[in-house]
Amino acid sequence: MPEALAEVGARRLFERMRALRVLVVGDAMLDEWVWGSVSRISPEAPVPVVAVNDHSFTLGGACNVASNLRAVGVRVAFAGVAGDDAEGRELRALVDKIDVDPAGLVTATDRPTTRKTRIVAHNQQVVRADWESTAPLTGADRERLAAVVRELAATCDAVVLSDYAKGLFSREVVEAASAARVVTADPKPRNIDLFAGVTLVAPNAAETSTATGIAIKDDASLERAGAALLERLGCRYVVVTRGERGMALFGTAGERLVVPSVARTVYDVSGAGDTVIAILTAALAAEAPVELALQLANYAAGAVVEKLGTATASPDEILELAGAESHG
Ligand SMILES: Nc1ncnc2c1ncn2[C@@H]1O[C@H](COP(=O)(O)OP(=O)(O)OP(=O)(O)O)[C@@H](O)[C@H]1O
Ligand SMILES: [Mg+2]
Repeated sequence: MPEALAEVGARRLFERMRALRVLVVGDAMLDEWVWGSVSRISPEAPVPVVAVNDHSFTLGGACNVASNLRAVGVRVAFAGVAGDDAEGRELRALVDKIDVDPAGLVTATDRPTTRKTRIVAHNQQVVRADWESTAPLTGADRERLAAVVRELAATCDAVVLSDYAKGLFSREVVEAASAARVVTADPKPRNIDLFAGVTLVAPNAAETSTATGIAIKDDASLERAGAALLERLGCRYVVVTRGERGMALFGTAGERLVVPSVARTVYDVSGAGDTVIAILTAALAAEAPVELALQLANYAAGAVVEKLGTATASPDEILELAGAESHG
């Protein structure tokens, strides 16, 4: 991409993104971080005792997709569920802090807010504890969610469906999203058929293999798996993300494009998939050609894996990496 002209084109595209409103529907998560140091083993059991010196919360799961859209200036509404608990209130406060419209965040009384607590000592994770329910939503909550998604989708340029298999998605909710011009999904394999008919799906390679039963081990098997998903879901595009191998695009009009990964140093790959779906969606909603959308998503993912923790990439960081690539 990035000769001077392409950079001007990309800058214009980022300008257009500022006028967009995108709805993120998905499994909201609260990431909890407990930081400390270890100087002894517990007398109670053979485990380290962490002396805590810091404690914080960040947005995870589908909320991280919302953060990534905000980082490129897109206005965002969020729909999902939180529990009627302190973590749910913390989640709402963080959503508010990044200026995301919480109109679609439904409070469920029969489940906790999904929370992942990491205890980290000397920059190493000691243990993670998950509070979550993966049971399907109750019928009443499913209807409330579908109604609010239908209403919000009609006011948005695009909808992202961010699935972490916590029981949120049903065919009703996916169909409710279809009022928007562009609908994208980052599906988990067991739910993948729920997303039939959306504009674009972007599973990773392992998820693609699980969903299709095709082991991806070379170009030919990648092609077969991508083509199989396109056909099965009736989507316009399939993007398969491949970790350090970059990503591949498949389109129903015969579009094929494979891009290598671009990160210079890899610090933390978690959340890179959230960045990919956010940037693909923003670019398509801003009417970028799909090839440019793919390249920008790939640069954005490269920029976030260069940072510690789930992260976001700004237009400048995305273009900086694009420039570094082209100038060697
Ligand atoms: N080790 C890596 N080196 C370079 N780039 C990477 C690496 N891991 C991920 N990326 C970039 O991030 C993109 C998405 O990563 P990946 O395919 O791992 O998605 P994912 O499994 O959905 O990630 P996650 O679930 O952690 O959000 C890749 O297509 C690539 O551009
Ligand atoms: Mg993923």
